[in-house]
Amino acid sequence: MAIKNTVTTLFEMKERGEKISQLTCYDYTTACLIEKAGINTVLVGDSLGMTMQGYDTTLPVTMEEMIVYGRSVVRGCPSAFVIMDMPFMSYQCSVDEAVRNAGRLIKETNANAVKLEGGATVVEQIRAISGAGIPVCAHIGMTPQSVNAFGGFKVQGKGEENARKVFEDAIAVCEAGAFMCVLECIPPKLASLISSKVNMITIGIGASSNCDGQVLVYQDMLGMSQKIAPKFAKVFANVGDIMVQAFKDYDEEVKNMTYPAECHTYVKSDCDDEFLAKLVNESK
Ligand code: KIV
Repeated sequence: MAIKNTVTTLFEMKERGEKISQLTCYDYTTACLIEKAGINTVLVGDSLGMTMQGYDTTLPVTMEEMIVYGRSVVRGCPSAFVIMDMPFMSYQCSVDEAVRNAGRLIKETNANAVKLEGGATVVEQIRAISGAGIPVCAHIGMTPQSVNAFGGFKVQGKGEENARKVFEDAIAVCEAGAFMCVLECIPPKLASLISSKVNMITIGIGASSNCDGQVLVYQDMLGMSQKIAPKFAKVFANVGDIMVQAFKDYDEEVKNMTYPAECHTYVKSDCDDEFLAKLVNESK
């Protein structure tokens, strides 16, 4: 029986200086494989708008869509700690709406925590959601839901003024009750400062190894993405190329009839010729 990763076990890992692994996931089959690999935490990211739905940004993703993907992931993750992303406009309008939507994500998927983007501007939401007993992962630095405000997916926290803003955001979300915080696309020294001075688990993406853990979008790390991957996205295995080759081989074998072969058919349970002839006669 798998032992569940929890807020407590994850904090214990931080205290021991043991790094925490996190991957995004959006479906049951991949969740089972990620679970089998022993990854500590899984993020059902709103990046699914781009990786699973083909949009250019995460902005169109809805609560209903998050719930459908999230449920499938949770069923495949008996031990990984599952975090549900709160989609664009599910928490920005009011604190009440944020708590209601965070509650829905937990009740309807059985996940373990929610994640929302933003620093000082969302502290009331973080306070209220964690006050309702739902662990909150914050997300600061490059926050993809603000792509239009940033003018693109750009590195944040560069220069003294911007570094101060990101650091103050980290302190603000921690004081509001966030137990974990994604640091996206910020410089290494700033990531190190936040990870050492702030009492929450930092998960880096494009933020160096100076964080308590790392997250990657699984299609990026498996070389499955057809778009230009960001600099930080190391390809650990070219699964995309393997899939394309397998699809090509299948296409060829279907067309030249080498697939299905006898070993793929139910020869033993087949009817005899006499019976089949009788069937034809009966249908006349
Ligand atoms: O939506 C997502 O997948 C994310 C990660 C990239 C951190 O926010």
